[in-house]
Parts: sequence; C-alpha cells; structure tokens
Amino acid sequence: MTEKAKNKNLQEAKTNKKDEFYTQLSDIERELKYYKKHFKDKVVYCNCDDPRVSNFFHFFSYNFEKLGLKKLIATCYKNQDMDLFSQNNSEQAIYLEYTGDKNGNNVPDPNEIGIKKLKGDGDFRSKECIELLKQADIVVTNPPFSLFREYVAQLIEYDKNFLIIGSQNSISYKELFKLIQDDKIWFGYNTVKKFTMPDSYEHNSVKVEDGIKYAVFGNICWYTNLDIAKRHEDLILYKTYKGNETDYPNYVNYNAIEVSKVKDIPIDYEGEMGVPITFLDKYNPNQFEIIGSSMTLGTRMSEIASKGTYMAGGPRFYLDSGDGTYQRLYDRIVIKNKKLQK
Ligand SMILES: C[S@@+](CC[C@H](N)C(=O)[O-])C[C@H]1O[C@@H](n2cnc3c(N)ncnc32)[C@H](O)[C@@H]1O
Repeated sequence: MTEKAKNKNLQEAKTNKKDEFYTQLSDIERELKYYKKHFKDKVVYCNCDDPRVSNFFHFFSYNFEKLGLKKLIATCYKNQDMDLFSQNNSEQAIYLEYTGDKNGNNVPDPNEIGIKKLKGDGDFRSKECIELLKQADIVVTNPPFSLFREYVAQLIEYDKNFLIIGSQNSISYKELFKLIQDDKIWFGYNTVKKFTMPDSYEHNSVKVEDGIKYAVFGNICWYTNLDIAKRHEDLILYKTYKGNETDYPNYVNYNAIEVSKVKDIPIDYEGEMGVPITFLDKYNPNQFEIIGSSMTLGTRMSEIASKGTYMAGGPRFYLDSGDGTYQRLYDRIVIKNKKLQK
C-alpha cells in the first residue's frame, strides 16, 4: 500500500469507525451484581472481546465459580488495522473457552483456558461465531457502537438472552424502539460514563485520571432482556392533572400532554402523555403502556404553521409559545398510565 493510500485509510477509519472503547471492570461489576441468579449453569458468550484485554472475560472467568457458570466463551475480532485500533498485539482472531477452575486455586490459569484460532476474522456475524452464539445462553458484552442495530437484530433472531452496553440514542432507530415497545429489550440499572481507548483515538470529551485516558460519554447505558426487579417496581407519582391543567400543555402537532419531567407524570391523566426518554429507566410495563414516540407520531409542522415560526429539524413535538412561535422539544416517548388513580 502506498503512503498516500495508508494515510487515506487511516483518515477514513478515524472518521468512520469509532468502536474501540473498552469497558472498565468496575462498571461491569456494578451492573452484574443485579443479575446473579440468571447465570447459574449458563453458557456465557462475550463475542466482541479480546480475552487478553477484555474486562468482560476477566469478570466472568474470575467469577466463574461464584456465578455457577457452565462455560465461558469469548471471541475477538481481528481488526483490519491492528496498530490503529486495537491494544492487543496479535494478528490472529482467537476463540477461547473456559469451563472453570481445575486445580483448586479459584483463578483461571493459562493452562485451564483453551485458546483456539478462528478460521475467519471473528466478526460476530460470521458463520463460526454464529455457531458459538447458538451454544450460548447469555451474551454479555459492549458491542461495536457502529454496528449496534445489526448486533441487537442478531441476538433477537437467535432468541438469546443478553446484557449489553449501548447508546441511549439508539432508541431513535425504529427497529430498536419497536423492541422496547414490545417488551423484548429494556434498560438495565446503570449508565456507563467512561471507557478507555487507544492512544490514537480522539474524542470530544476526554478525561485523564492516574495517567489513564478515558473517553467520557453522557448517554451510554445497559440494555438487557433478563428479568430484573426494577422492571416490576411502580414509579411513585404525586402530581395530579386535575387542578393543574396549565402545567401540562398539549402539543400543537400531536394530541398528548407534555410532561417535561418523569417525576411529574400525573396520577390521574387518562390520555396520552409525552415524557423524556429517561422515562425508560423507570419503565414498568404493568404500570405504563408505550404508545410510540415523537420520532414518528407528530404531524409535520410545515402542515400546521408558517415557515419561520418554528425551528425546523427532524420530527419532534412542539408547544405553542403564545407569541406566534412554536417551541421545539427534545425527543419524547408517548405513554399511557395503566394504573390510573382518580
Ligand atoms: C466498544 S468496543 C468494546 C470492547 C470490549 N467488548 C469491551 O467492552 O471492552 C467494541 C469491540 O468490538 C470489536 N468489533 C468491531 N467490529 C466487530 C465485529 N464485526 N465483530 C466482532 N467484534 C467487532 C471492536 O474491535 C471493539 O474491540
């Protein structure tokens, strides 16, 4: 490859693909403590994880006995350009199996970990990785951000349980939103704020702590389809609609009231309500029904108002500002209360 072509590749890779963000052990521990009962006798598969550097592999191998796992499988992706993207120093995509401690020291020793070479590049969509996926009961990882949609679609296709990290922005993908609406995927407990990354990476928010460079994110969380207690807890509500109607204006381009803070959802409103997407963190399907979102439900403002009176952009809900203009809101989820208190 010529120097020019190499530079072009590097430039393209830098701008197109931002997948090398590594999860910290403390974030994995903080989330996994809520799921212990799900792992007994299960085969866990980490399919975007170089076991030499992945804290997911570290966590499950060191907690193998405590969780009562049956088997742990990890596959790593051989990157197109190892120098640029990966911290590991092998050219070869590998596959690894661990079936627990054999010599009684409760630590996964190298000779207890079976490392095998993969034929292909370890792409989670490859035939050999799909064969491993079929063996798995639960998939746990932080998959590539750029392939999140495809990644989730594959888990659903193979009917797998999973606990994965992803951006909350992904709910703007209609396929993902539909899965949320259909109770096939939900938010876990925590958000994840900091990831380590290769030195060659640039990120718009970076923090250096104890000499380690972290990429800081504001909207990354856990997604799962494992049953967790918080999904069955009712959100405690205090406010009423009756008597406070002016606090809950109707959108101009959709028939629902605006509830700008999740804690202010009124206990007595029968109709549809628009709430911030942070609602999903509190969503209990026995308490609320998800009708849809402002990403698809609202009438286009161009059909309602004259140009210049509202800020244009993607589909959103708008409120009447009272001075001939309209206020564009952030994305809203439209819900209905199933447990009305009159
Ligand atoms: C966000 S990083 C997380 C890495 C690791 N799971 C962790 O949590 O530290 C996503 C990883 O997926 C790998 N990857 C990218 N494309 C992939 C693919 N098609 N199949 C499998 N892994 C892939 C990347 O190389 C990257 O290491």
